[in-house]
Amino acid sequence: MRRVPLVVANWKMNHTARAAEEFAAALRPLIAPFADEIGSRLEVAIAPAFPALDRLGQALSGSGIALAAQNVHEADSGAFTGEVSLAMLADLGCRLVLIGHSERRHLFGETDERVLAKLDRLLASELGAILCVGETLAEREGGQLGRVLARQLEEPIRRVAASARPPERSLVVAYEPVWAIGTGRVATPDLARAAHAEIRSHLVAGLGPAGERVRILYGGSLKPANARSLLEQPDIDGALVGGASLDPVDFSSLVSICRETQRERS
Ligand code: PGA
Repeated sequence: MRRVPLVVANWKMNHTARAAEEFAAALRPLIAPFADEIGSRLEVAIAPAFPALDRLGQALSGSGIALAAQNVHEADSGAFTGEVSLAMLADLGCRLVLIGHSERRHLFGETDERVLAKLDRLLASELGAILCVGETLAEREGGQLGRVLARQLEEPIRRVAASARPPERSLVVAYEPVWAIGTGRVATPDLARAAHAEIRSHLVAGLGPAGERVRILYGGSLKPANARSLLEQPDIDGALVGGASLDPVDFSSLVSICRETQRERS
């Protein structure tokens, strides 16, 4: 099964709008050797902080790189101070939205129910969800990985199956072991391969053959130095990158490594 590889930058609370423009200007020449593949054979997206979305979108225009958002509120509009709606994101050209990132779950108390409400809102739109899942260190050490993945995936996959949209367009899953995010502690290729295989079996159980077409990204302390051994694993279809995505040289290297490993795999 050939899936179009996808690399997503998650800038978190970094980079002003001006810094985002500078990043885009620095990135363009670095990806020029394969610029014609971006948007077709290779997908790349950047999720900046909300204030940088508009100017980053303009700075990326014509590059094929998609704009993504780090979060969304499930309501269409209303008295929700500090929140951002899907219509606001779509209006700025966002195509993908992260939901259930572990920092949202653990630092801001986002529950599985909230994540589902956001997914439902996205499924009723044209935008794609990047659903982040992954276990904490205590859960892994307690042998809970299977339970955690089932809890985080089964109901979202049921909702995707019930929607009229093709699953490969409405959903991307990002496996991000919480103990590997921002810690410098990357999952070994074997651990990541096993978790991705388990996620794939949930997707196929819930979606049938379409589950083979949904992309599963790895995230957690990915860097140019450790990316190749992870990205060449089966069922790792790309990357969700935090720290290393802030630098255009590192980010372009990761995109290039993903492109090469996926070509070798197919
Ligand atoms: P990291 O973050 O690459 O800095 O570990 C990944 C993420 O949180 O998406």
